[in-house]
Amino acid sequence: MAKNHSGNSHTSNRDATYTLGRTSHETTRLIEQSRIYGSSTIRLCRQAGITSGMRVIEIGSGAGDVAFSLAGLVGPTGKVIGVDINATILDTARQRAADAGIRNVEFVAGDARMIDFPDKFDAIVGRFVLMYMANPVEAFANLVTHLKPGGIAAFQEPEYTLYPSFLHPDTPLMNQLIEWILGVFRHSGAHLDMGIGLYRAFVDAGLPPPEMHLQSPIGAAETWAGYRYMAMIFQSLLPLLEKYGLATAEQVGVDTLAERIRQEVLVSKRPFFLPLHVTAHTTLPA
Ligand SMILES: C[S@@+](CC[C@H](N)C(=O)[O-])C[C@H]1O[C@@H](n2cnc3c(N)ncnc32)[C@H](O)[C@@H]1O
Repeated sequence: MAKNHSGNSHTSNRDATYTLGRTSHETTRLIEQSRIYGSSTIRLCRQAGITSGMRVIEIGSGAGDVAFSLAGLVGPTGKVIGVDINATILDTARQRAADAGIRNVEFVAGDARMIDFPDKFDAIVGRFVLMYMANPVEAFANLVTHLKPGGIAAFQEPEYTLYPSFLHPDTPLMNQLIEWILGVFRHSGAHLDMGIGLYRAFVDAGLPPPEMHLQSPIGAAETWAGYRYMAMIFQSLLPLLEKYGLATAEQVGVDTLAERIRQEVLVSKRPFFLPLHVTAHTTLPA
């Protein structure tokens, strides 16, 4: 069984290959991801103190879901600036904002580490983004310089190193999935231990120690959305799984994967854990 996977160190010369790809399927997966992880993001932002009237910068916006949640929290007197290095996905984010009539969000294409903003922000937020950066600790330290005194940092990152210990049921399919998922993220250069690594990122940046939580959506109900979402993850990972020689499309069997996971979970009557994540937030001294 695939246990004892160690994380990557938090420095490297280059950014990770974006492990999940840049396809339209990946955009759909990100939107589905938000249905599953969105409630924990909103809880994080509320607990962090993000509220009406604030100006917030969001790093790695993707299809825009975190920015939309933030827009609701800051209200019409507040403002959210979402940044993503992938200009194409921001077209989707802008269109979704327009369709939903969300006016207090703006999306900016670019590397969040390089953008120079004229004003400081009340809060900085990021979900599932630092893990792809070559040196997330250094990047985080630069990013939080955009905060005003008394500003809030609230981040949510995956923690893959602990995932093998939590995955149930203990069957060949589940263990194979874990081995593939950890293998592909490691080969791509992503930081597998970014969730736990948030602590170091915060304190090395000179921020007060963050309040942190380790979480995972888990489920075993017949109709749970998690089975389909796991198959969507694998559809996004497939090109790199094949490229790195870790698995073939036939071995993964994306079309039947959700149902095979569901059957194993139903038989075992043990909840299935989706990838774990850590939330961390803190407030700078005023
Ligand atoms: C896993 S997606 C998460 C998207 C979104 N935060 C969410 O949770 O729905 C990571 C996003 O971060 C973006 N990204 C990665 N490195 C970045 C950087 N240096 N600057 C800005 N965006 C970046 C990617 O293009 C991608 O859209």
